[in-house]
Amino acid sequence: MPRAQCEGGQGRRSGSHRPDQEWHRWDGPYFPKLDGPQIDAVCARLSGAIEDDSYAAQSPLRRAAIATVAEPATMIGSLSWHWESEDSDWRRMGLTVYDPALRGRGIGTNALTVWTDYLFRTTGVVRLDYSTWSGNERMLAVGRRLGFTEEACFRDAREVRGRRYDSVVMGVLRREWEARGEQAVTS
Ligand SMILES: CC(C)(COP(=O)(O)OP(=O)(O)OC[C@H]1O[C@@H](n2cnc3c(N)ncnc32)[C@H](O)[C@@H]1OP(=O)(O)O)[C@@H](O)C(=O)NCCC(=O)NCCS
Repeated sequence: MPRAQCEGGQGRRSGSHRPDQEWHRWDGPYFPKLDGPQIDAVCARLSGAIEDDSYAAQSPLRRAAIATVAEPATMIGSLSWHWESEDSDWRRMGLTVYDPALRGRGIGTNALTVWTDYLFRTTGVVRLDYSTWSGNERMLAVGRRLGFTEEACFRDAREVRGRRYDSVVMGVLRREWEARGEQAVTS
């Protein structure tokens, strides 16, 4: 994660994480957003973990930046995972490309390919998934393209901007992922 994005502290919070950013309309719009001081606290914690090397020491990493290759590298999105159930080694992934102008170009598909591959290689998990909503067609399309299965559909479970949508979980098993063979995994 580029240091510039993590130099938290009052007045220096990462622009892409401000609560007014457009991607919040798509990424879990039914969850409460962090406010400014909460974002500052997250950035400060992350910055400290990078400084003292504890962030890099995690395996697997909890978050990864999607960044441009061209210098200076710019963070254009992020990948993450969290425990759905630590007791069962059940991890749930997250993915966001911040700038709407950069969406629909294959970046999300490529990033989730790399992240899924990374998590299967660095952990013993037997499955990975992500959760989204039926109005997020791009996110659903990414999973379908990668061979994920629609594993759960909770009808009308989410309300977004006054409309009801299904809550959808897309998942892949390790054996299914490995059966994909040597399809392109680019960093
Ligand atoms: C969801 C997201 C990560 C996908 O990344 P992306 O770079 O846009 O994805 P890709 O370009 O790899 O693929 C997008 C897919 O959506 C399709 N798509 C593009 N524009 C679309 C539109 N307006 N409506 C529906 N589908 C569309 C593309 O055709 C592609 O599908 P395909 O693989 O079947 O061709 C990204 O759009 C994003 O960050 N959105 C906002 C935040 C968010 O929703 N995060 C996910 C939370 S669960």
